[in-house]
Amino acid sequence: MTIVEEARAKVNLALHVSGRRPDGYHDLDMLVAFADVGDSVELTTSEADRFLIDGPMAASLSTDADNLVQRALKGFREITGRTDPLSIRLTKRLPVASGIGGGSADAAATLRALCRLHDVPADAPALAALALSLGADVPMCIASSPARVGGVGERIVPTTGHLCFGLLLVNPNVGVSTPATFRALERRDNPPLPPLPVFDTVRRLADFLAAETRNDLEPAARTIAPVIGDVLTALADLPDVRLTRMSGSGATCFGLFDDKATANRAALKLAPKHPGWWIEPAAATF
Ligand code: C5P
Repeated sequence: MTIVEEARAKVNLALHVSGRRPDGYHDLDMLVAFADVGDSVELTTSEADRFLIDGPMAASLSTDADNLVQRALKGFREITGRTDPLSIRLTKRLPVASGIGGGSADAAATLRALCRLHDVPADAPALAALALSLGADVPMCIASSPARVGGVGERIVPTTGHLCFGLLLVNPNVGVSTPATFRALERRDNPPLPPLPVFDTVRRLADFLAAETRNDLEPAARTIAPVIGDVLTALADLPDVRLTRMSGSGATCFGLFDDKATANRAALKLAPKHPGWWIEPAAATF
C-alpha cells in the first residue's frame, strides 16, 4: 500500500515579531498562505524500514535520524505504538533553510501520511503536541491552508481561502539559519497585526499587506545574507508585481501577482538574468 502526501511551501505574507518568551522563543503574529509547489512524501508498507531522498534538491539534505521526516516517524511510533516497517521516499524540490517551511512541511506530510495509513485522526491532541515539538511551523503545515497564526506557531485561525493569487518565489541559493536571524533582531516588541479586513481583490490584499504589515525578520536576515536585497529589487522591477516581501527567516522572497499566469510571465523575464537563483511561479489562496 502506498500513500502520497504533498508538502506545500509555506509563504509568510506577513510576519510580526511581537514579544519574546522566557524560553527564548518569540511571539509571532503571521499571515500564511500555501503555494501549489512543494516536496512530496511517499510512504509504502515494506518488509524493512527504508528512507530515500530524490528530487532536484536532494543533495542538500541527508537521510540521517535528524531529518524531520525521520523524527516525525519516530515520534508517531512512540505515540501510537505502530511500528510496522515502512519505505519512505522524500522528493525534495524546495530549497532547504529558505524560509518557506520545507522541512516543516515534510514533517507534516509524513504525519498526515502515517495517520491515513494507520487510520489515526490527524487532529489527535498527542499528535498536535508532537507536531509543535518538531518545529513551530509544523502545526500550520499539517493543515496546509491559509491562516492567521499566533503564539510561536500553535494558534491557528483559518481564513476563507476564497481569494486566489499568483506568487513568484525566488531564492538566491543561500541558506539562512532561523535561530541566527532571530538572534540578529534589533527589536522584539513590534506591534501585532491589525484586524483583517475582507479581501475581495488581489489588489486590496496587496495594498493592505504593504500599508499595514511587515516581515520583522527581514532587516535581520538582510544583515546575514545581503543578497536578499538584490532579490527584492529584482522582484520589484518585474511587470505587474503588486507586492514584494521576504518569507519567514529568508532568504526566499516572493512577488505577489494577480494570478499564476502573470507570475509565470514574470518568471520568464527574471530567470535568464539570474541563472543561479531558484525561481518558481505558484498559485495560492488566502
Ligand atoms: O521551531 P523551529 O525549529 O522551526 O525554530 C527554529 C528556531 O527559530 C528556534 O530554535 C528559535 O531560535 C527560533 N524561533 C523563535 N520563535 C519562534 C519560532 C522559532 O525564536 N516562534
